[in-house]
Amino acid sequence: MIDLDKIRQDTPGCEKLIHFNNAGAALMPSQVVKAVQNYLAIEEYEGGYETADRYADELKDFYGYAARLLNCQARNIAFTTNATDSYNRALSAIDFKPGDVILLTENDYPSNYIALISLQKRFDLRLVTIRNTLSGEVDLNDLDEKLKKYAPRLVSVSHVPTSSGLVQPAVKIGEIIKKYDALYLLDACQSLGQLNVDAIATHADFISGTFRKFLRGPRGAGLLYVSDKALAAGLEPLFIDLRGATWVTPDQYISGNDARRFEDWETSYALMTGCTEALKYLIGIGISHIEARNAELIGKLKNELGKIDRIRLLDRGSQQCSIVTFSIAGTKEEVTQFYHDHSINIYTTSKSSAIIDFQNKGIDWAVRVSPHYYNTESEITRFVEVTQMRNS
Ligand SMILES: Cc1ncc(COP(=O)(O)O)c(C=O)c1O
Repeated sequence: MIDLDKIRQDTPGCEKLIHFNNAGAALMPSQVVKAVQNYLAIEEYEGGYETADRYADELKDFYGYAARLLNCQARNIAFTTNATDSYNRALSAIDFKPGDVILLTENDYPSNYIALISLQKRFDLRLVTIRNTLSGEVDLNDLDEKLKKYAPRLVSVSHVPTSSGLVQPAVKIGEIIKKYDALYLLDACQSLGQLNVDAIATHADFISGTFRKFLRGPRGAGLLYVSDKALAAGLEPLFIDLRGATWVTPDQYISGNDARRFEDWETSYALMTGCTEALKYLIGIGISHIEARNAELIGKLKNELGKIDRIRLLDRGSQQCSIVTFSIAGTKEEVTQFYHDHSINIYTTSKSSAIIDFQNKGIDWAVRVSPHYYNTESEITRFVEVTQMRNS
């Protein structure tokens, strides 16, 4: 189903090392790198504005492919610089009033928490956290009760947190939120590219994402999905610019109709072409094949890591994904260096990325390992051997 030989040929970095940091930034397929390089080479000789004019039709492809990824329409997609940028643009569109409540989860991304705390300080908002179930995901009954009790303006959920393999029930959450008059902002930064995210099924008003992670696109690029409902309600970023609006009289502008009202005029078209290639590449393989392949790899990894003494697997939630976290003796720096010395890329996550979760788990940091479909079973075996060596 997955042509692994071809995929690994397209991923030359695979030959040199074991890359288990796809939740940080994946290895890009060479098609993605070439698209960016080719576009920049044309800009070099023809000029940036002129190249964008000449390639206007091809550049539009980005929106169509991103819409296929999310099962929506091209009009619902904005190109941004990263997931945090997307999240903050969505947030800035909401005209919060003093006393408004925002519901969020214990596992929301730290920058999202920081933005919300900053908003809270400036606009006198109230942040209320939804409880987790004993298995670790959002408690849907508590969500329902808090929606009833607080009538929040916004519910913010990170589909997959940065710091563990937990998958929040994004669709079930959306089904509950839609009964109330609250906006739903879904951070799908870690889920896009490894899990099927159907924007319509989630009932989300906004979905933020980034390209460099499981989507295997270039760094410095992201996307924002804006629902038809949010567009029709006239939601627009606070600092809308002349990409999203037209200045018509000295004190008036008219906003555009589609999600591009959330974009900036100045943007990297070279990166956009790379993102389009990354989307085509993913669609060519099929997200269901990717999900199935990753589940196999992760099953093997967890099973074998679980047999090693003094390794504590940390991931919770009734659904989990291609991020595995564990505790091991030593410091973050020593452990990262140790794997690096064995040509394995891993990442460590600190408590400041998961204050509530790591406090509950009683840890200060964790090793984060995030294989993707282009990794192999033998790489997993090698990783486990190296981990055993470290612990012996
Ligand atoms: C869950 C989650 N949300 C948001 C982000 C932020 O993404 P970006 O760095 O592209 O802004 C990350 C990055 O790791 C993440 O893991």
